[in-house]
Amino acid sequence: MTVNWSANSWRNHTALQMPEYQDQAELDRVTAKLSSYPLLVFAGEARSLKQKLGDVSRGEAFLLQGGDCAESFGEFSSDLIRDTFRVMLQMAVVLTYGAKKPVVKVGRMAGQFAKPRSSPTEKQGDIELPSYRGDIINELAFTPEARRPDANKMLEAYLHAAATLNLLRAFAMGGYANLKHVSSWNLDFARDERYSAMAEKVADAIDFMESCGVTPDTTARLRTTDYYTSHEALLLPYEEALTRVDSTSGETLAGSAHMLWIGDRTRQPDGAHVEYLRGVLNPIGIKCGPSMTTEDLKQLLSVLNPHNEAGRITLIARFGAGKVDEHLPRLIETVKAGGANVVWCCDPMHGNTIKADSGYKTRPFDAILQEIREFVDCCQAHNVYPGGVHLEMTGSNVTECTGGLQALGDGDLSSRYHTACDPRLNASQALEVAFLVAEELVGK
Ligand code: PEP
Ligand code: CO
Repeated sequence: MTVNWSANSWRNHTALQMPEYQDQAELDRVTAKLSSYPLLVFAGEARSLKQKLGDVSRGEAFLLQGGDCAESFGEFSSDLIRDTFRVMLQMAVVLTYGAKKPVVKVGRMAGQFAKPRSSPTEKQGDIELPSYRGDIINELAFTPEARRPDANKMLEAYLHAAATLNLLRAFAMGGYANLKHVSSWNLDFARDERYSAMAEKVADAIDFMESCGVTPDTTARLRTTDYYTSHEALLLPYEEALTRVDSTSGETLAGSAHMLWIGDRTRQPDGAHVEYLRGVLNPIGIKCGPSMTTEDLKQLLSVLNPHNEAGRITLIARFGAGKVDEHLPRLIETVKAGGANVVWCCDPMHGNTIKADSGYKTRPFDAILQEIREFVDCCQAHNVYPGGVHLEMTGSNVTECTGGLQALGDGDLSSRYHTACDPRLNASQALEVAFLVAEELVGK
């Protein structure tokens, strides 16, 4: 039991980025209903993820976290879920080969519906309306009705999350994750000569195992996979309603996903989001942007991980290309000085968002790669293990980030720009990142 904590003790702290629901009775009805619904994940799963992240913190595994910036109720289908799951498995094979370590796969999926915004309102011409805060809160259309926070959307989000998780579990356990399929998809991508050499080596390694009798037919580990879910724990009434006490251990579980993270805008050590997360047993991510001070980090580590449990905390650095050396060393030194167990992970997306001449928000592929390289170099220069990457990506062929093998330019962005929020890597760009990270890890 965490001292002086309850699932609603966050209500005594300042909660930034929270919608203002007009109808309190409706909000109460919705959260009461959610409180009676089944959990989406169970405590044993969150613990097993924490254990695996503990392996990452010791340099014995690598973390791949990825998915949409914001999942949307409109873009919701088996194909989309399958495609993102598939590209993450492909990336994991490449990274396993590069890192020579197991890859822990965590989707930004099945619950990534709430978004922090830089401004509470949006102005178009003379009209000012509340900002869009994700499908769990309001709608993207620029009308007063659409932008009104609607508590009922939490129930809809729960159902979308449950259906997504159901399919992910089926894919992970039902044969879709068979290594033989995963590797043949890679070969398809790897027609490009920059990657074909590595793809061939991966295929050779699989053939070798097969001749030794280690095949998906003989070995369950090659037919199934572990796949976990995560999202930003932003909308606290929703998280509170899905919080349960685990009957075996007496510990408390956030039942909405295996892993939750705190955004860069809501990580005040005395704020409501930190208060909520300190009491749940799940592994926790903390986004670390340029404004993260050593003092903040020290406090966050002591509040969120008082027993210094390995795998509990993943620090997700998101500084932007060219800024890693300015900010990451002070965080590394703080962690080292306190002897804290953490996973070091790189989010190369959120510090590299620019506005293209065409007006679209985009991210240049080269800046994304540069930040990953700076992160790996900085970690190695300071003798800590660069443990993972956190990507906004999708399995579909969208045109939201520029560059990569397809050499997408500003002029291409309008053709398939589907994101409800930030620009995502498409399948080819995401896989390319995996090849380049693997190369980086192999080379060191
Ligand atoms: C995000 O991950 O979508 C996000 C908003 O990140 P950050 O809190 O790092 O800005
Ligand atoms: Co984002």
